Amino acid sequence: MSNLLPASAIGTAFERLDGELKVTGTAPYAYEQPVDHPVYLYPVLSTIARGAVERVDTADAEAIEGVLTVLTAETAPRLADASDRELAVLQDTTVGYRGQIVAAILAETPEIARQAADTVRVSYAEEPFAAQLRADDPALYAPEELNAGTPTDSSQGNADAAFDTAALKIEQTYSTPAEHNNPLEPHATVAQWDGSVLTLWDSTQGVHAVKGTLAQVLGLEQEQVRVIAPHVGGGFGSKGMPHVHVVMAALAAQCTDGRPVKFPVSRQQMYSLTSHRTPTIQRIRLGAADDGRLTSMSLDIVEHTSRIKEFAEQTPAPFRMMYASPNRSTTTRLAPLDIPVPSWMRAPGECPGMFGPEVAMDELAAAAGLDPIELRRRNEPAADPETGKPWSSRHLMECFDLGAERFGWDRRVTRPRSVQQDGWLVGLGTASAVYPFMRQPANTARISYEQDGIYSVQIGAADIGTGAWTSLTQIAADALRVPANRIRLGIGDTRFPAASVAGGSSGTASWGGTIIAAAKAFRADHGEHPSPGATTEADAPEDAEAQNFALYSFGAHFAEVHISADTGEIRVARMLGVFSAGRIINPRTARSQFLGGMTMGLGMALHEQSVLDPRFGIFVNHDLAEYHVPTSADVLDMDAVWIEDRDEHAGPLGARGIGEIGIVGSAAAIANAAYNASGIRVRDLPLTPDKFLA
Ligand code: MOS
Repeated sequence: MSNLLPASAIGTAFERLDGELKVTGTAPYAYEQPVDHPVYLYPVLSTIARGAVERVDTADAEAIEGVLTVLTAETAPRLADASDRELAVLQDTTVGYRGQIVAAILAETPEIARQAADTVRVSYAEEPFAAQLRADDPALYAPEELNAGTPTDSSQGNADAAFDTAALKIEQTYSTPAEHNNPLEPHATVAQWDGSVLTLWDSTQGVHAVKGTLAQVLGLEQEQVRVIAPHVGGGFGSKGMPHVHVVMAALAAQCTDGRPVKFPVSRQQMYSLTSHRTPTIQRIRLGAADDGRLTSMSLDIVEHTSRIKEFAEQTPAPFRMMYASPNRSTTTRLAPLDIPVPSWMRAPGECPGMFGPEVAMDELAAAAGLDPIELRRRNEPAADPETGKPWSSRHLMECFDLGAERFGWDRRVTRPRSVQQDGWLVGLGTASAVYPFMRQPANTARISYEQDGIYSVQIGAADIGTGAWTSLTQIAADALRVPANRIRLGIGDTRFPAASVAGGSSGTASWGGTIIAAAKAFRADHGEHPSPGATTEADAPEDAEAQNFALYSFGAHFAEVHISADTGEIRVARMLGVFSAGRIINPRTARSQFLGGMTMGLGMALHEQSVLDPRFGIFVNHDLAEYHVPTSADVLDMDAVWIEDRDEHAGPLGARGIGEIGIVGSAAAIANAAYNASGIRVRDLPLTPDKFLA
């Protein structure tokens, strides 16, 4: 790590402190952790979607030299708590989805393990199953609540009556497909038992979350589990809670006489084992007066979940708070299917939940004869429409105004399909972005004075590629009033104090606020000139005031789309995001976060869809050859800027979080630009070329 750090910290565009380790390939990821004499695990996955394993023939596998053990539901060790059916691996013979682990090979090399897995023959008693999301599925049900404790339904006034009498009406159904988190580093766990103590090197967004879950499932005391994850190659939510492979590795390592077990989940296996984003069907009704002011807003959502474990996205959340309307209603219903378990993917809820509504607003603008930005201006709510709380800091229209100027929004033509350049239809589009501020209270930081001016700052946080190593060092430096090169940060290890998961865009504000509190306490305890060994631990500061405000980050996306008039090929020539996310800690890593989110939004708009074959219950395009994410050639002129303010209600740091807002609304902006270019309104993602060949 460089010693040549500038003396000021927050607000400085430090290069990543872990950058050199990353680019030289020496940052240790989970699979690469050097352990002695490892055993390699390769799973056998079910080829039916629902039923039971009747027989597992392991004789051929066991005869292969280098195979140590084959674990099945008959031979695997028992869990203390098998109530979470996603995690209860090899605890019984039932099969709840295709691609579930039904056996596991332990071998001397990864190649032998994989070869042996191919020789295992499994016979099943198959049962009828369902694997197709349908809005009219009779099995649809209302979950008790949605992710993050969000209420399932909401209603104010009378949305139906107000819609019936509205001067302007938009009534449409929008849909988003299932998607898979595809972090560059696939999921991997290395597990080793030393007596009664389990060590896991895991690719995770939260070492303490893994420790807590594994202790519970295995029936261990918290002190018996250590989890280590200094560097993580992305997660996007799929590493936010431990999935079945972590339990599998821990169980397998009980059968190896203390040898560590390495379980690298392959890209293909990730499509059934490590979660995905649910598809959504969004029925929207907007009613407005002639001047575009909303009088009625309704959103009825249908999504899928796995029958073996419920996950319900908070998809209606942004619709509930985004615009003013006296009459409002939202519902969410789930179809229980015999499919892999869905979970978090970057901005779960907010991201799909802003696609339909933001396209519908574009449709309403056209119906009202208004510029889409003007429509949003006319529907700005003075306070949070759902709770009535005042906004802590709502700068949505400033984002639109700055973006409009920088993007050249005045060049947008109102009439669709009226600009052509060299055979390409050209159009501009825009959409709002929003993401809630979620500061997590369960955080503790420890600060110790080492010697020679060096402070050790420890918190069990995670850097999943986002820049936490760097930004937390900056925050600690300012909090202790020392140059950043005096900070020795420790994260990614449960030996450091408990910290929340890197999720919900909450990491920097939560961990950083706690580091600030710990620095204050440290100075109070030990003064400006501490003795070596001086140590203070402190918890996250109280956050009572935040309860009185609606805390959200806002943004405005702009897109210029080119569509080939002959082939329907679609390119996003330009994208601009303007964000208001509170205080920005590091402009360099922040810009990367915004651009990363927008790039993922570009993928959502044009490429990403996990195709579930209802005849087999399998995601058929389960690799990066057939599941497409944007490459460099897809990302053309993309920029992100921000309007900075210090949100006084967002804790001591004044930062609200930036990890997810970049993806929210970006696909809608692209779809709206595609309409402006082509005159074709596509309401189901992704925007593939065939949809523009009307
Ligand atoms: Mo993010 S999907 O909250 O890890």
